[in-house]
Amino acid sequence: MNENLHTLRCFGCGARIAGQEASPDFRCAQCGDLFEVEYAGWGQRQGHNRPNPGALKWLWRERRCSSEALDQSGVWRFRELLPILDNFGNAVSLLEGNTPLYKLKRAAKALGIDQLFAKHQGMNPTGSFKDTGMTAALSVARERGFEWVACASTGNTSAAMAAYAARAGLRSLVLIPEGKIAWGKLSQAMDYGAVTCQLKSDFDGCVRVLTQIVKESPIYLLNSVNPYRLEGQKTPAFEIAEAFDWTVPDHLIVPGGNLANSSALGKGFRELRELGLVARMPRISVIQAEGANPLARSFAENNGERMEPVEAHTRATAIRIGNPASWRKAARTIKETGGWCLDVSEAEIAIAKAELGTEGLGCEPASAVTLAGLKKLRAQGKVTPSETVVLLLTGHTLKDADYTINFHRGTLLGDDEVAGHQAEIAALQRNAVVVDATPSAVLAALKGLAG
Ligand code: F0G
Repeated sequence: MNENLHTLRCFGCGARIAGQEASPDFRCAQCGDLFEVEYAGWGQRQGHNRPNPGALKWLWRERRCSSEALDQSGVWRFRELLPILDNFGNAVSLLEGNTPLYKLKRAAKALGIDQLFAKHQGMNPTGSFKDTGMTAALSVARERGFEWVACASTGNTSAAMAAYAARAGLRSLVLIPEGKIAWGKLSQAMDYGAVTCQLKSDFDGCVRVLTQIVKESPIYLLNSVNPYRLEGQKTPAFEIAEAFDWTVPDHLIVPGGNLANSSALGKGFRELRELGLVARMPRISVIQAEGANPLARSFAENNGERMEPVEAHTRATAIRIGNPASWRKAARTIKETGGWCLDVSEAEIAIAKAELGTEGLGCEPASAVTLAGLKKLRAQGKVTPSETVVLLLTGHTLKDADYTINFHRGTLLGDDEVAGHQAEIAALQRNAVVVDATPSAVLAALKGLAG
């Protein structure tokens, strides 16, 4: 029904192929670059395939009250803008998306910004934004008859893939860097029945091994080089635009790892604009960790034209990636929207995460780079007080509870990292205290705090 609506267009050389013709590693046979999903007729104002903006806005809102499973998904609710399946009955859903948009009052006040929000993608079924992409790409795998799916991951992709594969009755293979992912994520892959291989390598090494495997076996690759992942991951852009009544915020700030998510959100806003649902795109900025910052370096050195891989080190393990696959797509989004790409230090990440905590919002360290980045942008005068800013929080705080506990115990950061931030950190630390099991001991502890 829908297959004829989409083609894959190479981001590098512009070659177009049918979805079924993609090679197992989703690289262009001509130039080796990545593909993007493209829909015929959307570009032309009178095209017969061009959806009607007013009708769509009404339909998507109506679906929020529907009892149909597909309508209750915050991804498939927007299915007119992701016609990637022959039959939507093949969609594998855990009722992902429809995540909350929270107002951040304390951080806004501290930064002197009127309107600051957090779109919390960690509130998805497996606790990260990956669910929105996984429901899309895994549904394609099921429709195309694959029995096995696989990914290399820093943890969240593998948790999402394992869950959706289990729902669909498919087998899943996970390659993760040994000792470098948070326990919460590893436990999820195990629980959802994935075959989990911990490789004595980093994320980039896991990608290299998996790329060989999928070329030799009938296993469907679910890393974000798979362009269908991005079709699901663009839908938070639709939710954000809808929440702002089809105006868009001035600025969206996104963490950067393998750099697919920033480009997916850019694609989402670009399509809304092309279809006449919104008038403009927000500025989209990408924030990396200082020790895993190849794109930030590239922007500083050559305005995002060339990127040198780095050996990645950061406690924000989700974004511990030195050779991001989708960097060209992300660079386009940043330049097209007038955004920036910056990096932030380990201490800045930890402080920002704890500050979000004081507003009742938990998130993964990788998500907290957004607030840390906003602080830098504000200090550099790149964000003005009247702008509406949205931070994209990508993962749930319980994914990496060790990180949080170590921060509050004072064992997370080294002395050199803490230097210059001691007072800020001390004011945020809330270590648990051990006291006798008597009311007076607890009350004494309270007095101690008050003092
Ligand atoms: N935040 C979290 C919590 C992540 O898990 C990731 C990526 C990112 C941000 C960065 O997104 O790669 O699209 O730039 N995690 C991947 C994984 C790589 O395997 O779970 P990106």
